[in-house]
Amino acid sequence: MERDNKSSDFLHIGYKLLNWYGKNARDLPFRQTKDPYKIWICEIVFQQTRISQGLNHYNNFIKRFPDVRTLAGAEENEVLLYWKGLGYYSRAINIHKASQQIMNDYHGVFPADYEEILKLKGVGKYTAAAVSSICFGGRMPAVDGNFYRVLSRIFADDFDISSSRAFSYFSQLAALIMPENVGDFNQAMMDLGSEICKPKNPLCGECPVNDDCLAFSLDRISDYPVKTKKVKAQDLALKYYFVHRNGKFLIRQRKDDFIWKKLFEFPDTISEDLEPFIRNVKTVTHKLTHKNLTIEISNVEVDSEVVWGRFIAQNHYLITDFEDSHDKSFPKPLENYIQNALKD
Ligand code: ADE
Repeated sequence: MERDNKSSDFLHIGYKLLNWYGKNARDLPFRQTKDPYKIWICEIVFQQTRISQGLNHYNNFIKRFPDVRTLAGAEENEVLLYWKGLGYYSRAINIHKASQQIMNDYHGVFPADYEEILKLKGVGKYTAAAVSSICFGGRMPAVDGNFYRVLSRIFADDFDISSSRAFSYFSQLAALIMPENVGDFNQAMMDLGSEICKPKNPLCGECPVNDDCLAFSLDRISDYPVKTKKVKAQDLALKYYFVHRNGKFLIRQRKDDFIWKKLFEFPDTISEDLEPFIRNVKTVTHKLTHKNLTIEISNVEVDSEVVWGRFIAQNHYLITDFEDSHDKSFPKPLENYIQNALKD
């Protein structure tokens, strides 16, 4: 459907959102700047992490890597370290690669054009739209789950958000209410989506556009958004051995792209002569986006210098201790295991 937003009957909704945003915008550190580097980092952090959970990480990251050049010149492991605790570590690896792309392909100057921003590693349509609109006056809506939810409620629209066409459908719907100032509009939608038009228990009484919201007037807010397909999580069993002696334990860095790329982990097999040293076995569960992990961790306290030495000689593990392991990023369940071992 062709839609011309100049003639849209719904533009007043966008202006109400801007007006609301003008008075209620959350006071966030990245809102004091139009530096595309900082906005880019914040969009990558906060698209998958709640503001309250990621703010310290964001501030520390910017303090250590204040610009593209500093980030591009850093070691990947240090960048990973600053991501410790945030999860979805491929974001950190991609950010690091993209910073080198900006140095090499754009002379260190952050590209201003939506299509160019989209070429950066790890940057999708949402991030490119957010950065180009907030920093450069670009005119693309930053469509994400917030947009799906807010728009499907305002228009009581039952378009399936799990459809592969949802992004383009809701982009067109967004264009109907999108005013001139797209950067603020995008951020108003983000704030509305997370503070007011929440997935559960939305605060419709406080919503600046409740007069315009069809789902609200029909008392059908909880029917939207419509989502038919649920991606079924895959069950996966993992086994690890926490092999330690005198406060030192063995680790290695993951290479593969399957999960937890570049994070550190414990050995996943041991030799037979280590088996007698298994003290106990703990099973923990952990959820990733599309995986339910069951992780069995054996505590192997090696009381023999000879066996310890032989195992190390036969395998390529790094020897670390509790102190040193603070400088490395581990998957959350292994990090928790180390923290608990520390208390024992
Ligand atoms: N989440 C992601 N980016 C954001 C932004 N710019 N403002 C508020 N929340 C966000």
